[in-house]
Amino acid sequence: MRLVFGIIVLIAATWFFSALLGTPEETASAQGPAEWVSSQQCAECHEQIYNEWKESPHANSWNNEDVRVQSDDFANKDCIDCHAPRPVFETGLGERVLPRAARRSEGVDCLTCHMLPDGGMAGTISNPRVACKPVTRRELRRVTLCAGCHDQHKTVQQWKATTFADHRDGCMECHMPYRDGTPEGGRLHTMPGGHYIEMVKTAVTLTGTKDESGQPSVTVANVGGGHAYPTDERSRASDLWWRTVSADAPVGDDGVAESGGEWHHLHRIRDPYRHETDMVSTLLHFGESRVLPIEDPAAQGSPVEVVLVYKRTPYYRDKETGIAQHLEDVADPFDDSELVHRVVIEP
Ligand code: HEC
Ligand code: HEC
Ligand code: HEC
Ligand code: HEC
Ligand code: HEC
Repeated sequence: MRLVFGIIVLIAATWFFSALLGTPEETASAQGPAEWVSSQQCAECHEQIYNEWKESPHANSWNNEDVRVQSDDFANKDCIDCHAPRPVFETGLGERVLPRAARRSEGVDCLTCHMLPDGGMAGTISNPRVACKPVTRRELRRVTLCAGCHDQHKTVQQWKATTFADHRDGCMECHMPYRDGTPEGGRLHTMPGGHYIEMVKTAVTLTGTKDESGQPSVTVANVGGGHAYPTDERSRASDLWWRTVSADAPVGDDGVAESGGEWHHLHRIRDPYRHETDMVSTLLHFGESRVLPIEDPAAQGSPVEVVLVYKRTPYYRDKETGIAQHLEDVADPFDDSELVHRVVIEP
């Protein structure tokens, strides 16, 4: 009799506590799927993050047209590693990542950054009752999480040389800001970079001046890039162009004067490719201010318009043939480039 009473109490207590712990639906989903294999499995419960990620360059890294051309449709197997990777917590933080065999079209997926070898998810909280079993892992907010893929072209080395590294302001401070400015809002998963011109604008300033002899010059300064501008050697460049304009020329929709003289190339900021041994790197490092005089006499005595543009693919111009583009072949500032900043120097 005592035993039966004891069992009833036990059952009641179990029911009471499980009711306290969660509803049956939550308990059911707490099992999670048998295996985590796709970002799509996360969409159901992390809809906003999923939607941000889905439109990010990370999600597009396997289908990206430029990557396809340059890797010969991934016939170059070395390119698969970072563009369709296995979880970094599995291969080891900061280590060279390894290629994934399945679902490559999901690119750098949720599992890449979050999945732990035992099947839980690295997060900022631990909660074994939740389906995906998040576990607090401080490494998630460190630069080493990104370093396994992002130091190939020295972005992390460049960051280490800045004051941001001294203050331990990692990549997330700029690339994963809090959605609503508070930690509760969570971090933005679009991870904007070179594909978001508004982000690029925050990296640099452009100012113009004229000396006593009337010679104009511009200063371009890296004030907001957490590394060199533009970072990544492979496919980025930033060019400065100038032309004369009339004092009252209206500004058009493209952000420059509606009419003016012929455009002249002034300067290119870029890191050369390995085989371009005759070129020196002109990357603009964080904190650096570069003064560029416009020596052409035609630039004196008239207002001068100067633009700074950003180019994602300076190298392969023709996506079909992969033929290299040389600076001499560039027709004008807006040839495959976007406007970053513009300045007019009065005479
Ligand atoms: C060690 C990791 C790693 C490997 C291996 C790798 N990439 Fe990438 N790739 C990246 C990262 C990180 C970025 C994005 C950051 C950037 O632009 O620097 C990127 C960006 C690119 C881009 C620019 C995409 C765009 O939309 O602008 C191209 C093109 C590219 N990679 C081609 C290749 C090719 C071709 C190979 C093989 C020869 C390759 N990658 C191998 C990490 C890697
Ligand atoms: C059945 C719903 C469900 C699914 C599916 C799910 N999660 Fe979760 N996840 C949750 C809940 C609920 C939390 C807890 C949120 C809280 O307590 O703030 C959570 C928390 C997390 C956390 C920690 C959040 C933090 O604040 O640090 C991470 C990381 C995470 N999930 C990643 C994932 C990933 C990646 C996937 C897909 C592989 C996934 N989750 C699938 C429900 C789910
Ligand atoms: C490139 C790496 C990367 C990818 C890809 C990624 N995350 Fe995150 N995620 C992070 C980092 C870093 C944090 C922030 C950790 C911190 O604040 O300490 C984070 C935070 C989170 C959080 C905590 C809440 C928040 O909003 O900050 C959840 C939940 C989460 N991620 C789920 C996902 C899901 C679901 C996907 C895929 C749709 C995904 N993540 C893709 C790196 C990534
Ligand atoms: C497993 C490899 C990998 C990891 C880890 C990784 N990334 Fe990436 N990241 C890539 C690749 C590949 C691309 C290029 C995608 C493309 O454009 O094809 C990329 C692109 C980017 C871009 C460029 C976006 C743009 O607008 O072009 C930013 C910014 C970025 N990653 C930030 C981060 C940050 C911050 C972290 C760490 C929290 C991180 N990544 C972790 C592989 C990775
Ligand atoms: C102070 C803010 C800041 C910090 C810190 C920072 N970045 Fe950036 N990052 C930017 C800005 C602004 C740009 C756009 C202009 C440029 O390329 O410099 C950018 C661009 C990028 C790009 C895009 C390159 C491309 O080719 O599209 C990648 C990748 C990137 N950062 C990775 C990182 C990584 C990895 C870290 C940490 C080691 C980091 N960033 C730290 C501000 C920052």
